[in-house]
Amino acid sequence: MTTGTAPTDFARRLDQTAEETEALLGKLLSEAPLPDEIARPKRLMDAMRYSSLGGGKRLRPFLVVESSAVFGVPRESALLAGAALECIHCYSLIHDDLPAMDNSDLRRGRPTLHKQTDEATAILAGDGLLTLAFDIITRDEIHSDAAVRLKLARALARASGIGGMVGGQMLDLAGEGRFGDREPVDVARLQQMKTGALLRYGCIAGALLGQSSPAQHQALDDYGHALGEAFQIADDLLDVEGDAAALGKQTGQDAALGKTTFVTQLGIEGAKQRVRDLLARADSALSIFGTQGDVLRAAARFVADRKN
Ligand code: IPE
Ligand code: IPE
Ligand code: MG
Ligand code: MG
Ligand code: MG
Repeated sequence: MTTGTAPTDFARRLDQTAEETEALLGKLLSEAPLPDEIARPKRLMDAMRYSSLGGGKRLRPFLVVESSAVFGVPRESALLAGAALECIHCYSLIHDDLPAMDNSDLRRGRPTLHKQTDEATAILAGDGLLTLAFDIITRDEIHSDAAVRLKLARALARASGIGGMVGGQMLDLAGEGRFGDREPVDVARLQQMKTGALLRYGCIAGALLGQSSPAQHQALDDYGHALGEAFQIADDLLDVEGDAAALGKQTGQDAALGKTTFVTQLGIEGAKQRVRDLLARADSALSIFGTQGDVLRAAARFVADRKN
């Protein structure tokens, strides 16, 4: 019988990782060019910093750090991999908010980047974060074995790209019916791709960095899969029931845009039940780690109960 991770301990750990991630991103986004870079244009750097610093729960880096901790991976390596993943996440938010996509004015309690600057700057800041992520994830400090870095980079590309976040965003927009195709929407697949894939990457990153057994890798993959899906359903519920001030973004957007979600398909109670089922799945996936999985168990509860 495990006693689990006390909520305060979980909050402390999440805060600690958020603080360290913030500091690391601040350094990675400094104005001084790196070797082989010609210059870092100030307007681009300011925009990338605006959308990457000073906000966000940093849940994805947290998942990298905590899945890595299970295997005793050095914290610095995990934080660096977490920062790479957070760069992809921040880029996805910048582009998601653009007028051509969700057309959102508020993000993390502040004007979205295109509102603060202009659309071209926002597009380029997103591009800059996407490419920086792959610069970071292939750095020598991530792992001494280049084969491990290669696996991490390839998995990050697959989670971010066609069969992951980018593909999912395409399905999300198509699901609004904006391209004229009114085919039935496979919401589970759409959400596993647009949101689940990056969160799942956060979970398997620890297994890759820690060179885990295939069974441990599979367990984290199963956990990340369930957690990722639960995360987007919780986000969709918050869009209906949440408090815009606490969320730092507008609510009621999904209905206004005609998005297809589990809330529209199953209703509020049905969507909440699906989150509970996914939490149970996430929990049982961690059983092979015993008490070492307690922080990740608490992370799944946090995803379901969060207010922002
Ligand atoms: C928001 O993600 C976008 C979705 C995938 C639903 P988060 O809720 O993790 O956003 P931040 O990083 O904490 O702002
Ligand atoms: C975003 O989903 C998924 C991404 C890939 C960024 P949403 O469009 O629901 O995220 P929010 O509600 O704008 O944060
Ligand atoms: Mg969206
Ligand atoms: Mg959006
Ligand atoms: Mg949303």
